[in-house]
Order: sequence, then C-alpha cells, then structure tokens
Amino acid sequence: MPDLLVHPVSTPLHGSVPVPGDKSIAHRAILLGGLASGVSRVEGGSMGEDNLSTLAALRAMGVGVTEEPGGGLVIDGAGLHGLVAPRGPIDCGNSGTTMRLLSGVLAAQRFKTILIGDASLSRRPMNRVAKPLRLRGAHIEGKADPKRIGEITAPLEVGPLPQPHVLASLEYELPVASAQVKSAILLSGLYADGPTYVNEPLVSRDHTERMLSALGVPIRAVGAMVELDATAWSGALPAFTIRVPGDLSAAAFLLVAAQIVPGSRVDVRRVGLNPTRTGILDVIRAMGGQIDAVALGDELGEPVGDVHAAASALIGGRIGGEIVPRSIDEIPIACALAARARGETTIFDAAELRVKESDRLATMARVLRAFGVGVEERDDGLVIQGVPDRPLTAADVTSDGDHRIAMTAVVLALLGDGPSRVRDAGCIATSFPRFVGTMRALGARIEVIEGEGAA
Ligand code: S3P
Repeated sequence: MPDLLVHPVSTPLHGSVPVPGDKSIAHRAILLGGLASGVSRVEGGSMGEDNLSTLAALRAMGVGVTEEPGGGLVIDGAGLHGLVAPRGPIDCGNSGTTMRLLSGVLAAQRFKTILIGDASLSRRPMNRVAKPLRLRGAHIEGKADPKRIGEITAPLEVGPLPQPHVLASLEYELPVASAQVKSAILLSGLYADGPTYVNEPLVSRDHTERMLSALGVPIRAVGAMVELDATAWSGALPAFTIRVPGDLSAAAFLLVAAQIVPGSRVDVRRVGLNPTRTGILDVIRAMGGQIDAVALGDELGEPVGDVHAAASALIGGRIGGEIVPRSIDEIPIACALAARARGETTIFDAAELRVKESDRLATMARVLRAFGVGVEERDDGLVIQGVPDRPLTAADVTSDGDHRIAMTAVVLALLGDGPSRVRDAGCIATSFPRFVGTMRALGARIEVIEGEGAA
C-alpha cells in the first residue's frame, strides 16, 4: 500500500473540481439496474472500489455489464427473478454496503450464496441484517464473533430460501439508525408476499426509498417509518438511466480543507444534496464556516447542486442527535474542522463509528493526538480541543486501512509544521480514487511514495 508525503500548504487552496459519483447512490443504481427488466445506464464519473465490488457481484450472478470509455455502465438487467447462482463466494471487498444490501436480495433467492470480505469487513457486525431477514423466513448464517456474544460476522451464507420459497411480511424496529440494514429489509420486501414496515430511531439516508419510488415501487415514508407493499406492485422494475450525482461524502474532505486552510475558496460541482446526507454542511455552518449550496435540479429523485466553500474562523460546537446519521461518514473529517476551531467540540451519540471500516473513534483520537491536538475518547464520541492559531505538529500516521481516516489525515497534514507521512493510503481508492490528483489541482503538495495506487 502506498504512503503519502503531505507538505504543509504555502498558498490557499483554490479551484472548482468534480468528485466521484455518490457511492451510496451508485451501489443502489447498480443493484437495481441488475434486477430491472431491460437495459439501464449508470453514468457519473469514476467509481471507487466499493462500487466495483457490487458490480462484480452482479456479474457473478449472470448480469451483463458493459463499461463505456467515459466510465458509464450499461447494465443488462436480469429481472427481479433472473439472478443465477454464482460459481463461488462473492467477495464484497471492503464494502459493508455491498454485503448488507446484497443480503436483502439474496435472502429471497432459491440458491445459496457465500459472501466474504476483506479483513476489515470480516470484523463488522452482521447480525443486524441477519436478524430481520430471518424473521421473514430467510436462511442466513455467519461466523460466531468471538469478541461479541450473539454477534456474527462474514463469511455469510445467504439462502436458499426455504419452503414455501417466499418471504413473509415484516414489521421491524431498527435498534440503531442504519441505511444499509433498512435497505436490505426494503430490498427483501420486493420479494415478499406481504407488506414491509421498517422504523428507525432517527432517519438515515433514504436513497433506496427514493430510487424505488422513482421506479414505480409502492413505497412511502412517514417520518422515520417506511412502508413498502410489493403485493400492490407489478413485480417488475423498469430499466432506467441515471447520472449519479457527485459524492458529498467525498466532497466533504475538500470543503473542510477549504475551511481550515486560510484564504481558500473551493467549489465542488454537481454533488448530491439529499437532506439525509447534508449534515456536514450544517455542521460547518454551525461552527461558523462559510458554505453555500446552489440547487441545480434532480436526478432520479435525488437533489443535485454546486457547493461553494471559503476559509473561515471556526468555533467549536456540539455534534450529536439527528445530525449523526446525516453526517455519519463525515464525522472523521468534522474532527479536522474541530481541530482548527476555537474552543472545544463535543461529538456524541456516535458509537456507530466504532463498527465502520475501522473503529473511527479510536483511530481519529490516535490521529488527532499525533498532530498535537488534545482529544478525549468517550464511549460514544470525542471531545476535541481546537488549535486555531498555530501550526499542527507534523505527524507520521497510519490509516488502519480506512479510506476516510487516510483522507482526514491528509487534510490535517496541510497545516503541519513540516511534511507529514500518511501510511497505508491505498485504501483511499475505496471511495475517492482521484483524491490526491484533486487535492493537487487545488494547490496541495502531496507525494506518493512506495509505489502507485492512491493518486
Ligand atoms: C451507507 C450507509 C451508512 C454509511 C455507509 C454507506 C449506505 O452505513 O456509513 O458508508 O450506502 O447505505 P449505516 O447504514 O450502517 O450507518
């Protein structure tokens, strides 16, 4: 895995840049394109490795996919009931979304599938998805987790669906807000002989709901409750075309870098502005940051717009409650904001971060300390003491294989008192393959060392 040598900035960051297509929306577009009847097109820029895992999974189950030179995908859908048994285990790589969303679809199949993942994904909890799927009649088993009693992890064995070969209706209360689990349940609901109701303690991202609704599936949301009734539906997903909006979660690294590098102005073009994802914009504003979003329109039910950010004097704040699921993947980079804000920032209600690609509360605490930032780690969050007026301490840190930790460390390193090294940075390609090139285009000086891969 390559390392990155990040030099402190000598000039403000400046420019207008695109970001990769939204990872969450692309997962759903690929999956639903594979289940649609007819040929769908998924366009929208470079995809990271996580999306490629979903694509490879569908190919392994007989879906025809052609990649076009501009990065677009032409997906020849197999139809809702047209997937075929894969020849071997399906490797979901680092992607929890691939494993959990696929589980919902595979639960309804008459064949067995084994889902495997990399070391990080193989540690992540899977009972949260197995439990509701079993309640509606699915067969799903995992490996007993030696560290957490009652928990299972990958490899997962999903299906075949036992007699009578149809999933039952389900009413399910999620203990923790999770779009991945909610989506798995809703996708399994497409195959059920009765309605599906899912309720979350707080609203998580609703891309699955929006896309299914745009494709004519009877689905509606009231607050945090979602209802899908496949018995009131034709049973076929129409083919579609989508230009996937840019990923606000990728843009967040650039937008926060623009806030904390003095004098910077950065515009990110055509990103998704779904309100279940824009928590980071609210966090930046609440901490005194200048950020504007200009709506451009809609793409298969998803709002899209340009976002403009300018360097600001920041003040510490509190990040908890409903904002947490709306910014769940941006909390690491929000820590960089907190590191440069005047005063203290408290992040709470965020225990879910412990079961992401790494234990992000522990990894962020370690990274912040390495850059000379005071931080207290709590069970459900962090308390960060901002260092607004002097350079951070140049650091030598590792990402622990977590793409969002690696990118956060790069952003912090821009303000170091010398060059910093970010080890194990190849994982950035999981979600933002052109991150280094994009940062360079904005004016950052970053060298890739020990081989290629992250640029
Ligand atoms: C995702 C949902 C979130 C998020 C992940 C992508 C999705 O996970 O952290 O990166 O696409 O549904 P949870 O739903 O488990 O919180």
